[in-house]
Amino acid sequence: MDSFSIKGGVPLHGEVTISGSKNAALPIMAAALLTDEPCVIRRVPDLSDTRFMVKILESLGATATFTDGTLTIHAKKIRGYADYELVRKMRGSICIAGPLLARLKKARVSLPGGCIIGARPINLHLKGFAALGARIEIAGGYVDASAKKLVGASVFLGGRAGPTVLGTANVMMAATLGEGLTVIESAACEPEVVDLAEFLNAMGARITGAGSPTITITGVAKLHGAEHEVIADRIEAATFLIAAGATDGEVTLKGTRPEHLRAVIDKLNEAGVAVERRGANLVVRRKGKLKSADITTLPYAGFPTDVQAQMMSLLTLAPGISIITERIFEARFMHVSELARLGADIEIEGPSAIVKGGRPLSGAPVMASDLRASAALVIAGLAAKGTTQVNRIYHLDRGYERMDLKLRKLGARIERVEEK
Ligand code: EPZ
Repeated sequence: MDSFSIKGGVPLHGEVTISGSKNAALPIMAAALLTDEPCVIRRVPDLSDTRFMVKILESLGATATFTDGTLTIHAKKIRGYADYELVRKMRGSICIAGPLLARLKKARVSLPGGCIIGARPINLHLKGFAALGARIEIAGGYVDASAKKLVGASVFLGGRAGPTVLGTANVMMAATLGEGLTVIESAACEPEVVDLAEFLNAMGARITGAGSPTITITGVAKLHGAEHEVIADRIEAATFLIAAGATDGEVTLKGTRPEHLRAVIDKLNEAGVAVERRGANLVVRRKGKLKSADITTLPYAGFPTDVQAQMMSLLTLAPGISIITERIFEARFMHVSELARLGADIEIEGPSAIVKGGRPLSGAPVMASDLRASAALVIAGLAAKGTTQVNRIYHLDRGYERMDLKLRKLGARIERVEEK
């Protein structure tokens, strides 16, 4: 398994171009299953997750070509039964269920199972499918959803931690080919849901209200092929903003959507990191000393859970006490013990981590446990004195396109150490 070797202490300087969003691309790729015509999707990041989704679409019978960020998917003839092992391995692939159910009136997919950051059930996805008239059976590790026809309905999709992003996406896609009107209440408002709705409307769907807690879908008989450019990855952008602040550098991020980053920019400002907007570019640098700040992760437009770990790395450098509370996933503090290896002082109290910041970090071998935890370890390694080795970076490759190259272009001393 590859690792990163990072010699820390170098302030990042220069420009970085932000890639397309992984979490927008995955459901948009699945949506191409809704039509038998070709779909062209641009700015798709080249990641192990998007390549994995291509494999899943091909296992269903679709063809796909992926060159320089442009993906052409043609789901001319497909089957409603996805390979167990493929779906089981990548949670995000659960969003093929809605399109298969809509187009074929049947879908058989393996249960995604839990993940290291939480139990992550799909009860709300299934609640939505059942509201549209689907029969749901769970057996042998599979979910079988089937219906003679899907009929529009009103469904409340709020759960333990509020709305569900992929649940909203799945039910919205299922309802596009249903009969009549569907209203999703307590829908997720994430920009990735809005981007998906825009793609679906380009395919001929009739969706309004995406981006608000109430989404309305008027079913249509058929959808056609379409072209779409995926939005910028706000989580990748947040990661680079934080890396610049943690290393006391000055970086220009190109091709971002600043309006998707308000909660992050607000907290960075509070912590002593200034982010200036210049059109679609953001310029980030520290303004004086870092300061402690309290963070609570919330559904969009609140502070994103996918930036919690990276922000913790920054706050370990800020003198004073910062309290970070994780409200979305019940086990998303795997990075805490690894940051402690680098000298950070963090205590976990229930859903909160109490960071006693200001102590300089020093390099050490650490282990990545999940996608965003690995990004946090890379940021801490960039800020630490000496050499940090981040192991198991396959986690990082799932969600960051050529992160080591982008960081090296900003002056970082980072090397990918390929396993022999
Ligand atoms: C999406 O996951 C993202 N993944 C996650 O990003 C992100 O952390 C999450 O949304 C929250 O913003 C993709 O888009 C591929 P949820 P999703 O359903 O949709 C509970 C990353 O790092 N819940 O919004 O799977 C659930 O357990 C990844 O890129 C139910 O209880 O997340 C969680 O506590 C990690 N029942 C909360 O809701 C359900 O049926 C939010 O989960 C569904 C969810």
